[in-house]
Amino acid sequence: MRDESTHQEVALITGANKGIGRSVAEQLAALGMAVVIGARDPLRGEEAAAAVRAAGGRAYAVTLDVTDPATVQEAARRVEERSGRLDVLINNAGITGSGQVSPADAHDQVPSSVDLDMVRAVFETNVFGVIQVTNAMLPLLRRSPAPRVVNVSSHAASLSLTSDPDGPFAALLPSAAYAPSKTALTALTVQYANELRRDGIPVNAVAPGFVDTDSNNHTGFLTVAQGASCVVRLAVLGTDGPTGGFFGAEGPVPW
Ligand code: NAI
Repeated sequence: MRDESTHQEVALITGANKGIGRSVAEQLAALGMAVVIGARDPLRGEEAAAAVRAAGGRAYAVTLDVTDPATVQEAARRVEERSGRLDVLINNAGITGSGQVSPADAHDQVPSSVDLDMVRAVFETNVFGVIQVTNAMLPLLRRSPAPRVVNVSSHAASLSLTSDPDGPFAALLPSAAYAPSKTALTALTVQYANELRRDGIPVNAVAPGFVDTDSNNHTGFLTVAQGASCVVRLAVLGTDGPTGGFFGAEGPVPW
């Protein structure tokens, strides 16, 4: 039984039980979208969805681990059953690989001594998970009159910024895991945009800035609402907007 109005846009956000993803869900709900909270833990997902509903929005949760194909397929099935289509996909779920450690002090990511299993785990979530989720959701996105995809990347993905020895990222420890995974994600964004351009599905990457969340042990200086706002800006663009781009709050981010 479908419970969404055919006129209300539907947005799925992965990793939406906390941090930037949760704020994106709250902001999209406040703009009138029905939001689907993707979360690995059903209880945390339901708690986030209930909070959106308590604030007057429309929301439901789906259990979704981006590294687990069975949960991704089941999440797509549930969205089809409840909403019939998807207008917006936000690939937000991500890990640093260093637990509750800021990528800035991630000594365990230095290329010459990194644990390859950690690199694999980070790519599994931040890159392969995005392919898995996007491909599972594309049939639902194709049913939307104005579908779009936003991938949550990072300024650490920028080869221009990170290769400048005098640039703002010179102080970061070199990383073989998080930063390259986000570079791969922006590259993937361009390739999806190239494939889906003719279908009218814009795909863009966003760098939310350094946001106060668990992922950097709350060392970020932006609030989750500030970090989420540039994700939301891309999510509400029309299909005549940019595609294959990489944007931060300040505008285009150099590749
Ligand atoms: P967070 O740790 O608060 O949230 C990450 C979310 O992803 C959580 O809900 C977590 O449960 C979920 N997640 C992790 N692995 C998952 C999996 N396999 N399947 C499904 N969900 C999974 O971190 P934050 O900061 O909110 O991160 C959100 C996104 O923003 C990530 O992609 C991160 O890399 C990116 N980002 C964050 C920045 C920051 O300063 N906080 C800066 C640049 C990018």
